Amino acid sequence: MNLPDLKKAQVRSDKKVEYKVQDYLFSNALQGKKYFLRTYGCQMNEHDGEEMKGILEFYGMIPTDDMESSDVILLNTCAIRENAHEKVFGYLGRIKHLKKQRPDVIVGIGGCMSQEENIVEEIKKRHPYVNFVFGTHNIHELGRLLLEAKEGSQDIQVYSIEGDVYENVLYKRDSKITAYVNIIYGCDKFCTYCIVPYTRGKERSRKIEEIVKEIEHLKQEGYQEVTLLGQNVNAYGKDFHDGTEFSDLLEKVAETKIPRIRFVTSHPWNFTDRMIDDIAKYDNIMPYIHLPIQSGSNRILKLMGRRYTKEEYLELFQKMKEKIPNVSITTDIIVGFPGEEESDFLETLDVVEKCKFDGAFTFIFSPREGTPATKLKDDTPKEEKEKRLARLNERVNFYSKWNNEKLVGEVVPVLILGESEKDSSKVYGYTDTFKLVNVISSKENIGKIISVKITDAKSFSLDGEEVS
Ligand code: SAH
Ligand code: SF4
Ligand code: F3S
Repeated sequence: MNLPDLKKAQVRSDKKVEYKVQDYLFSNALQGKKYFLRTYGCQMNEHDGEEMKGILEFYGMIPTDDMESSDVILLNTCAIRENAHEKVFGYLGRIKHLKKQRPDVIVGIGGCMSQEENIVEEIKKRHPYVNFVFGTHNIHELGRLLLEAKEGSQDIQVYSIEGDVYENVLYKRDSKITAYVNIIYGCDKFCTYCIVPYTRGKERSRKIEEIVKEIEHLKQEGYQEVTLLGQNVNAYGKDFHDGTEFSDLLEKVAETKIPRIRFVTSHPWNFTDRMIDDIAKYDNIMPYIHLPIQSGSNRILKLMGRRYTKEEYLELFQKMKEKIPNVSITTDIIVGFPGEEESDFLETLDVVEKCKFDGAFTFIFSPREGTPATKLKDDTPKEEKEKRLARLNERVNFYSKWNNEKLVGEVVPVLILGESEKDSSKVYGYTDTFKLVNVISSKENIGKIISVKITDAKSFSLDGEEVS
């Protein structure tokens, strides 16, 4: 048993990152068994889910959407806000019931919640039937944990370490058209509200050659798009201490000529001019940047530990708009951070008015145990925070629609991903600027980039028709 320890997880030493090659024990014991996997978190968590699926299918297991009839249930959890926790514990209630009827079902819990001390304690106390818990640093051990659970053992294996980099990972990707590619793991920013640096370890980059090799391979398989993943993509390469930066990677990836390249998430603090120039210069780097601001108040930004001011953010934003033709920029905003006054909130609204974001994810501050912000005095009532969120969302949605409306009548390139969920006579896809479009077009275009004339705009999607 290895229990999580947030204090240890916080350590950042000079220890060199180890680059390891993942290998898999072979066994027939799980052949033909059905697995049910639920993923709760960000793109990185989804991509971890693809790794878990890769391992399970390596052992001959078959996916199912029906939890009740599955042999193995895996929850790939997220810890970012309290409601992520609640969803998982809600699900565990259902599983508890199922376990009473079918004690042979194997239940495993992985992901960011597993890295939290209080959560693992709660699982031990209230959900003792859980067969195994594993964390973000040892997904590669999933096969072994599962085989041992099948033999009747119970285990908690969570490592609170800075982390290594594993290559030779067998992903079972959800799409044959777009693919996630990890470029940097972990986070060293320690924004005072955020649990991620504790759940995912230190910033450690994959080698450029490995990333390019993976993308070349994806291209050969027919993939049209890659999304480079990191909590902080523009910190890429800093841990090599040889002057490597994100642009060095971006340029090499662009030269693979894969049709579309995206990346998330960018931090405003180390977004360089060279990165902006690269996005403008290469046709296959998409003109879309997710640039979280979190707050428009300099006082709150300082308390959050974000390392930039409102003015610096606006300057960077302006530069991107000027240098990258047609760029679309989205953001994340937290309201109700401890001590946020009406005047601070008005600064946030002011940024929204100035930037007119293409979209924004907005959240109410959620205290995360073990992070510094939980120690700050927070006397704003919940109702007031909810009101601020509603006021913010009204403006954010207004500008989202406003930006979409500007596209009506334009012809834009859309990568078609599949049949439209609401209307099977349509297909759906994303513009270069990452806007969702429902398109009147043939299903034969799935997997292709086609020209689409935009006919209507809503707040969160567009309608269009194929033009030749
Ligand atoms: N690495 C990314 C974001 C990861 S988390 C970045 O730095 O931008 C995604 C978003 O969740 C954050 O941008 C933030 O807006 C929000 N978030 C993180 N911790 C939170 C908390 N404790 N309460 C509310 N929102 C939070
Ligand atoms: Fe969290 Fe900040 Fe790191 Fe983003 S940069 S993951 S918000 S600590
Ligand atoms: Fe959640 Fe972990 Fe991602 S906390 S947002 S799954 S890094």
